[in-house]
Amino acid sequence: MENEVQKKRILSGIQPSGDLTLGSYLGAIKNWAALADEYDCYYMLADMHTITVRQVPADLRRRTLTQVAAYIACGLDPEKNVLFVQSHVPAHAQLAWVLDCYTMFGELSRMTQFKDKSAKNADNINAGLFTYPALMAADILLYQADLVPVGGDQKQHVEICRDIATRFNGVYGDVFKLPEPYIPQVGARVMSLTTPENKMSKSDKDQNGCVYMLEKPEDILRKFKKAVTDSDACVRYDPAAKPGVSNLMQIYSVATGRSYGEIEQEFDGLGYGDFKKAVGEAVVELLRPIREETERLLADKAYLESVYRTGAEKASYVANRTLSKVYKKVGFLAR
Ligand code: TRP
Repeated sequence: MENEVQKKRILSGIQPSGDLTLGSYLGAIKNWAALADEYDCYYMLADMHTITVRQVPADLRRRTLTQVAAYIACGLDPEKNVLFVQSHVPAHAQLAWVLDCYTMFGELSRMTQFKDKSAKNADNINAGLFTYPALMAADILLYQADLVPVGGDQKQHVEICRDIATRFNGVYGDVFKLPEPYIPQVGARVMSLTTPENKMSKSDKDQNGCVYMLEKPEDILRKFKKAVTDSDACVRYDPAAKPGVSNLMQIYSVATGRSYGEIEQEFDGLGYGDFKKAVGEAVVELLRPIREETERLLADKAYLESVYRTGAEKASYVANRTLSKVYKKVGFLAR
């Protein structure tokens, strides 16, 4: 118990805005699973962030449940990690409002993601898209998280979270712990199979660039077969000169545990056709148990429900303590 108290706390989240990708598995979730013993871990499904872009309600619901199952299938043990849905813990919305009042219009206007997303959703530049970082700051600060595992694209959001927390603490004393972004040492940055200069992304227009965690084997194999390489015909790791081949090598390396040297040797004298086939097959085998386990879990709705309910209870307990403190500090009358 004493040990528990001293563990550093981790919080992270993924939006159920699309199906989980090979990139979200290798770049994030796979690494999270390894942190459970050392840290006190909270993983959220950021469904409130997802509605900043218009969603089909039934799809959002289905993806949220599937994502809970997939988290577990990827090795996030619900006994060791708190797995919860953001909208199940009202404190997120409640703290977000307070933090809105401590977040400046100017700093929100400068967020890269806001600029990108408002360009992409020109017909729906809503206030939620604008105040998104304050909600994300609430997600993190409610749990007094020490570390926030995120990809490079989210670092700016952790920075603004620190700025908001610092501003609030400056007025009211040490209410919030200042979180650090956490980039795990072992983590893959999986790039698109068709435009290997870009990160593999579920929002990629070209669906051949993105492999989904729960995708059918034949579709996975087809996508790897079509993956962009170069005209060198040589399997060699060189991300700058050979981004496509290097990305495939990275994926193959994580999937098989082989080093780049070993992979270069294995395909010495063979063509890209053999190489891409091998990578595709390795990914199919890597994802097979996850897909099967996710399907098995999805057939057991009662179990999944018990996981996210327990998660919401545990998360609410911690979150409400922070929220009460904040409400008191800003001068709200106790109920
Ligand atoms: N904004 C993150 C993303 O789109 C998801 C997210 C929401 C998150 N709240 C968070 C990540 C809190 C880390 C911590 O990827």
